[in-house]
Amino acid sequence: MKINTLSTFPDIIKNSLKYGVLSKAIKNKLIELNHFSYFNEIEDKDRIDDEQYGHSPGMVISYEKTYKIFKKIKKINPKTKVIFVSPKGKKLNNDMVMELSKEKNITIACGRYEGFDERIIEEFCDLEISVGDYILTGGELAASIIIDSVSRMIDGVVNKKESVSNDSLMNSVIKGPVYTKPYDYKRKKVPKILLSGNHKKINDFNRLMSIKSTLLKREDLLETCDLTILERKELKKIKNSNQNDRVFIALVHYPISNIKGEIITTSLTNLDIQDIARSAKTYGIKNYYITHPILEQRNLAKKVIGYWENEKERKNKNTKHEAINNIIIKKSLNEAILDIKKKYGKKPITIATDAKIMNNMVSYSHLKAKIQGKKDPYLIIFGTGWGLSNNIIQSCDYILKPVGGYNEYNHLSVRSAVAIILDKLFGCNF
Ligand SMILES: C[S@@+](CC[C@H](N)C(=O)[O-])C[C@H]1O[C@@H](n2cnc3c(N)ncnc32)[C@H](O)[C@@H]1O
Repeated sequence: MKINTLSTFPDIIKNSLKYGVLSKAIKNKLIELNHFSYFNEIEDKDRIDDEQYGHSPGMVISYEKTYKIFKKIKKINPKTKVIFVSPKGKKLNNDMVMELSKEKNITIACGRYEGFDERIIEEFCDLEISVGDYILTGGELAASIIIDSVSRMIDGVVNKKESVSNDSLMNSVIKGPVYTKPYDYKRKKVPKILLSGNHKKINDFNRLMSIKSTLLKREDLLETCDLTILERKELKKIKNSNQNDRVFIALVHYPISNIKGEIITTSLTNLDIQDIARSAKTYGIKNYYITHPILEQRNLAKKVIGYWENEKERKNKNTKHEAINNIIIKKSLNEAILDIKKKYGKKPITIATDAKIMNNMVSYSHLKAKIQGKKDPYLIIFGTGWGLSNNIIQSCDYILKPVGGYNEYNHLSVRSAVAIILDKLFGCNF
């Protein structure tokens, strides 16, 4: 494979390739490297950067000053794939590395300052790659990362092929822990099975450790991992044991807005009782509060629940009645909050939900991280009718971003919204 680099400081890249298997691969001509400098094709003491239009701070790599060197590289390597390293690019991952290792000729263009005049990118760039969500002072280190990761995929660069194929991130899992001698040091022992000599048992053990480590450290990877049914069940069991036992949801029927923005009381909906209870149970929610100010409506809810709790109706264990056990009926949202406070000694952190887009809404990833990171109870509040009253929304600790598509129309039933929101916050992705 031929790799060309174009940068301001080629020595940074050259020096990073002087060591280990990469230096051998270069010596053995498994990879051929050509380092070009932006200064190759300009006059002595001339600059490659200039001030930015629009009074923004920072210098920009000039189209005019770098045009010739890009053209020269393209002339020498007419079929080269030109990669610009940039924080704006697609984030580098193992799949991209494997794809790139199939190329015969790549050129990596490294930025500096505020990056490139956009016209250079329009004219010469085939692919923009970022090496992570942070900013480097220049693209040389990013180029070294690409060269290193891509080269080790090329046959012969790493001695043992299996070292590469067993690496973390291959097949969407990370490796489990690895050990070397001595077996026992400072009373810390290596798992005995690794010394058993039984290859099947060792492979099974390593696989289990690998998927468990992935669950613990990089659960996101498991989405594309080919897990067996048993493995999936095992991982779900581990995750389930410490899930949402402090998370509650509430369905509010007063104070609710109507289409004109007036405050109303809505009536109970039978489907909201069962369906939301089932969603709550599916996602491990501790309790589902139904709040209604009218006694008859609360009694109606109790009657519906009573019907499903009735032993005679228990035709199919595991479905409705099991979920319905988690419902608590209260007169108001405040009573639900006090009920949680009584159990946990502190008021729950409240999260309002609404279909409208408002200022300062919390994202799903932020809320998820908050819930996972703290021991506080959380109450996610859902409205009926045209949504929770403005007073309730504003009194909550957070307002969650609405779920929905890209169009203007957003009128999900509350039971659909509950299911989608719980899935976004607590859904299993493997
Ligand atoms: C200081 S950065 C310019 C960042 C630019 N101001 C921005 O906000 O997008 C200078 C150069 O370093 C390289 N660079 C910085 N961070 C990078 C990253 N995460 N991945 C790849 N290249 C990066 C790029 O070549 C970039 O043009």
